[in-house]
Amino acid sequence: MLLVFLILLVGSVISQCIATKDQTTCSHPAKGNPKFPSNFTFGVATAAYQIEGAWNIDGKGPSIWDDFTHNYPHMIDDRTTGDIAADSYHRFNQDLKALKELKVTHYRFSISWSRIYPTGDISSRNQKGIDYYNGVIDKLLANGIQPMVTMFHFDLPFELQKIGGLANPLIINYFVTYATELFENYGDRVKSWVTLNEPLLYCKSGYGEANYPPQIEGAGIIDYLCMDHSLKAHAAVYRVYKSRFYNRQHGKVGIALDSQFSLSNDSAVVNRAMQYNLGFFAHPLFSKSGGYPKILVEEIAENSLKEGRIESRLPDLSGKWKHIIKGAADFVGINYYTSRYVVRAKTPNGKNPSLERDYDLDEISDPKWTRGLSRWLYCVPEGMESILKFIRDEYDNVEVIITENGYSDKGDLNDLDRIHYLKSHLQAVLNAINDGCNVRGYIYWSLIDNFEWQRGYSVKFGLYSVNMSSPAKERTPKKSAEYYRRIIETHSIPDDI
Ligand SMILES: *[C@@H]1O[C@H](CO)[C@@H](O)[C@H](O)[C@H]1NC(C)=O
Ligand SMILES: *[C@@H]1O[C@H](CO)[C@@H](O)[C@H](O)[C@H]1NC(C)=O
Ligand SMILES: *[C@@H]1O[C@H](CO)[C@@H](O)[C@H](O)[C@H]1NC(C)=O
Repeated sequence: MLLVFLILLVGSVISQCIATKDQTTCSHPAKGNPKFPSNFTFGVATAAYQIEGAWNIDGKGPSIWDDFTHNYPHMIDDRTTGDIAADSYHRFNQDLKALKELKVTHYRFSISWSRIYPTGDISSRNQKGIDYYNGVIDKLLANGIQPMVTMFHFDLPFELQKIGGLANPLIINYFVTYATELFENYGDRVKSWVTLNEPLLYCKSGYGEANYPPQIEGAGIIDYLCMDHSLKAHAAVYRVYKSRFYNRQHGKVGIALDSQFSLSNDSAVVNRAMQYNLGFFAHPLFSKSGGYPKILVEEIAENSLKEGRIESRLPDLSGKWKHIIKGAADFVGINYYTSRYVVRAKTPNGKNPSLERDYDLDEISDPKWTRGLSRWLYCVPEGMESILKFIRDEYDNVEVIITENGYSDKGDLNDLDRIHYLKSHLQAVLNAINDGCNVRGYIYWSLIDNFEWQRGYSVKFGLYSVNMSSPAKERTPKKSAEYYRRIIETHSIPDDI
């Protein structure tokens, strides 16, 4: 009852998209030029732990995800691991075939830190691991596909967790050393780098709520430390690239930020919600003033004092780091999947303290939104358009690449819901471009079905299905693969499916 009331309350901002959509079609009104710019790039993404397998092959050290799946199997829905996964370590040629069929311009994949440095540290440097990615990069380029390399996608070397992982500021130096190794080995050919993937998510889940490795319960304190160190590690790597590598390598370095869009008819509430999501990382990097968003600095300090602390739980970012971080990215990568309506919390949320408690907003979904198999994944394409406009207005129209966007289901090859999701979200991106947003590329998550973290293999995001029970792990295109290929070929969004 309350839900229905709230939906009516905020009904005035529900866009035409929702008002007119049927069960599965989140159709989106088209505006302006029906074609993507000729230099717009299209890609697909994967991550090392989710596809590679070969968890202990050729010298690779364990990561915190190896430890998590091996030692806490009940934390994974189907009690599976990434030990073999899609076996891409041995079967990259099958992935390459799929990439060529799709005709993507870019392939975003991640490097497993503990293949390069099995203990996380340079003293354990592993040439076989380095060679593996040389092979991947060379094969991509030989086929006209640009590599976009993510340096860290959740799989921290297990040994580095012994010093506290991302809760220890020493991680900044370890990450710089590792990133430097990557620039030295691959920077002659890799021109697009993503330092960190979804720091907000891995800090909140791994160092706050303890449902991701390393399972630290530090809500409102250690998750903020993790974010602060992540931000500094990213910026330090960016500065090293600019000073030591850019002049001969001429690449771009960015970061992939996860954020929903928050819908409300009260713009102050939208802004508050966005600062607590995207703003955590985007404000220090891309705003004119730099540092954490003012509202976070003030509110978290105030909450901390009320709790009887003598300083804010949010680390201070006003010194030299503020300047190192400000402007330290050539583009912002956005991992956009979904949105929520937000209203001021009726009663305090979450534990005291916690990010949720500081955030102080209730999130509401619209019963009319189509949902993927992932419980959190409602199809809200207008949120894509809105987040891009938010970035345009808030961060001086910084260059944007959609580094992830995708839809989950049970894995049917005739995946019409995925096609509708893809279609409506790309229409939203096109609308944003036609409205002056500086979006340069779109990357679908994911190329192939893979190990979906705590959901194991029960939830599928791929354009290609993988036969997990077959030793050959055959990749089979779904209907959405064909649809995406047509988008890429025509640089426009076909009406017929
Ligand atoms: C793409 O082309 C547009 C207009 O021709 C130009 O402004 C933009 O800088 C180009 N983008 C890239 C990434 O080259
Ligand atoms: C939001 O909508 C409600 C209900 O229509 C209205 O009472 C309220 O004043 C609106 N708020 C703003 C900021 O427009
Ligand atoms: C998957 O592979 C197994 C073993 O090779 C085979 O029996 C099965 O038919 C395959 N499934 C599909 C959907 O192709």
